Amino acid sequence: MRVLVTGGAGFMGSHFVKYLLKNYPDYKVVNFDKLTYAGNPDNLKEVEKNPNYVFVKGDICDAGVLEKAIKDNKIEAIVNYAAETHVDRSIMDPTVFLRTDIFGVYNLLEAVRKFGLKKMVQISTDEVFGSAREGSFTEDSPFAPNSPYASSKAGGDHLCRSYWVTYQTPAVVTHSCNFYGSNQFPEKVIPLFITNLLEGKKAPLYGDGQNVREWIHTSDHCAAVDAVLHQAEAGAVYNIGSGDEIKNIELVEKILKIMGLGKTMIEYVKDRPGHDRRYSINHKKISQELGWKPKMSFDEGLKATIDWYRANEWWWKKLKSGEYLEYYKKQYSV
Ligand code: NAD
Ligand code: DAU
Repeated sequence: MRVLVTGGAGFMGSHFVKYLLKNYPDYKVVNFDKLTYAGNPDNLKEVEKNPNYVFVKGDICDAGVLEKAIKDNKIEAIVNYAAETHVDRSIMDPTVFLRTDIFGVYNLLEAVRKFGLKKMVQISTDEVFGSAREGSFTEDSPFAPNSPYASSKAGGDHLCRSYWVTYQTPAVVTHSCNFYGSNQFPEKVIPLFITNLLEGKKAPLYGDGQNVREWIHTSDHCAAVDAVLHQAEAGAVYNIGSGDEIKNIELVEKILKIMGLGKTMIEYVKDRPGHDRRYSINHKKISQELGWKPKMSFDEGLKATIDWYRANEWWWKKLKSGEYLEYYKKQYSV
């Protein structure tokens, strides 16, 4: 198969590019990425010279460049990881979120339609369902997004649904819980806490630290998207979750314990506006219909992630300077 992975230079997209090249040696994988602050060619060093790998620098909002990449490479399917993804940035300036996460998805759907591609997998989030007071979200739960990020992702998901119903454009949407693992930009909570602590700085915990997130390791998420790409029927929606729900305070305490540090390294800071209290995903449907199950335990995955950041300062040190540092200073008035 010839697959266009959009956003393949980011955190999860780069894991999926490497996963496809390793597990499907006869596939051609085209990574189409704008290289925003979150797109990092360092994530792909090990596959740069693979003859089945092609990189195209491009914006999913630019139909001309997108269509050329599809035509030139005879693309059959698209997996869309390209997005603006950080909730705090969306609160500070939603503009680019609306552009990429809604208009970009529209462009992709138009291209799938125009070229008659076999499938488009839209990688989306549990945040479109809002905060879970009790129980877990199913694929049929109503959308109730609470941040500009979540509402722009919801817009993209609605477009996928409407293109399937109206034009039979073969889009499939996934709603996933929080990803973690190596190569995650150090603005997201796990790499932010680990790298701060490695630098001797404190871990800034929002609000009362009681917010709950469900965590899935990169390896499990790649296997889930593999199942969706190859087995899901057009128009389907799948939740991807792990069952590993944890309060932020427990998360930081686990990280501190693994790193041999004390609780004095926690700094309570002002809360995120509109901060969702809890996310929780019911992933029965993907397990029953596609036979996928998460394998990595959170404790094992978290330890491996900390080990990776410890061993790969070259990767993250430079990301904690320049534009990122300016953003961080503004956020925490440090
Ligand atoms: P990321 O922020 O690490 O990377 C996003 C990538 O998209 C970057 O390489 C960036 O350069 C690229 N990109 C941004 N705008 C683009 C555009 N207009 N055209 C082309 N490329 C563009 O992302 P991530 O955290 O790995 O998330 C990947 C996807 O998974 C996103 O769609 C996100 O909404 C979804 N998701 C993320 C999580 C999570 O915990 N990180 C959980 C559930 C769903
Ligand atoms: O649930 C899936 C979503 O997970 C994805 O769709 C998003 O793209 C991804 O960014 C992530 O969103 P969150 O807002 O859950 O992730 P973040 O890492 O920003 O925050 C996780 C939790 O940690 C959240 O409750 C806020 C808290 N937090 C975050 C930061 C950055 C802190 O306590 N301190 C921090 O410095």
